[in-house]
Amino acid sequence: MRTILVIGIGAGNPEHVTMQAVHALNEVEVFFTLDKGSAKGDLNALRREICSRYIAPERSYRFVEARDPVRDEKVTSYDARVEAWHGERVEILERMLREELPEHGTGAFLVWGDPSLYDSTLRILDRIVARGQVPFVHRVIPGISSVQALAASHRIPLNRIGGAVHITTGRKLAEARAQEDVVVMLDGECAFKQLPGDAYDTYWGAYAGSEHELLRAGRLGELREEIERVRTAARAQRGWVMDTYLLRKREP
Ligand SMILES: C[S@@+](CC[C@H](N)C(=O)[O-])C[C@H]1O[C@@H](n2cnc3c(N)ncnc32)[C@H](O)[C@@H]1O
Repeated sequence: MRTILVIGIGAGNPEHVTMQAVHALNEVEVFFTLDKGSAKGDLNALRREICSRYIAPERSYRFVEARDPVRDEKVTSYDARVEAWHGERVEILERMLREELPEHGTGAFLVWGDPSLYDSTLRILDRIVARGQVPFVHRVIPGISSVQALAASHRIPLNRIGGAVHITTGRKLAEARAQEDVVVMLDGECAFKQLPGDAYDTYWGAYAGSEHELLRAGRLGELREEIERVRTAARAQRGWVMDTYLLRKREP
């Protein structure tokens, strides 16, 4: 039986890698990657750095990379578009596992941050399991997510005493207006611009936890233009930007 390890590698700092992840990395023969977009070069470089830093020199391993399918923008429904895209990924990964991993081998996916947050790897593996064509067992090794990295860099707890925290995406921020404390990820459109600036404080971070980290904290109304500017400049400079922010409703 094949074994697949889904290893959270943290949010961009090789020192986020946990001891549990280091042990797991040292079991792996084949690392699978399925990447796209402008961040690809940097993200793959980080994966390779993590492997060369933490895997014992006498162990041999290899990378197998497949081209990620492109989402079909002609499909107007977001859910249908993602569903079709995941379907294609299932086919590709299933083929990679069958062709590239020996029957008793151990393969791994190195997942940015933690696999539980806005990452499709586990959903895709569940679908491959359900198809029953390529049997394997899999384990998850948690990682430091960008949300934890953001909170640590700002030195804040995410929740207020006994309070809830809502985690969402930029696309769904408008639906989260009733929430007191909202963490927003995947916001390429700066959805925070639509909110009343006096009603919120924000704790924003790009490349949080890494050597390129950018942070801003304060009243949303005073920072939102600056954040948009800094974000745009960072993207122009590095070719990609990943940012996350907490919106904290101000006490009336
Ligand atoms: C596809 S999701 C992956 C999240 C990841 N699984 C995690 O646990 O952080 C990508 C989003 O994560 C956030 N993100 C990832 N790394 C980040 C970082 N170092 N700093 C700030 N946000 C980050 C951004 O919101 C980005 O759009």
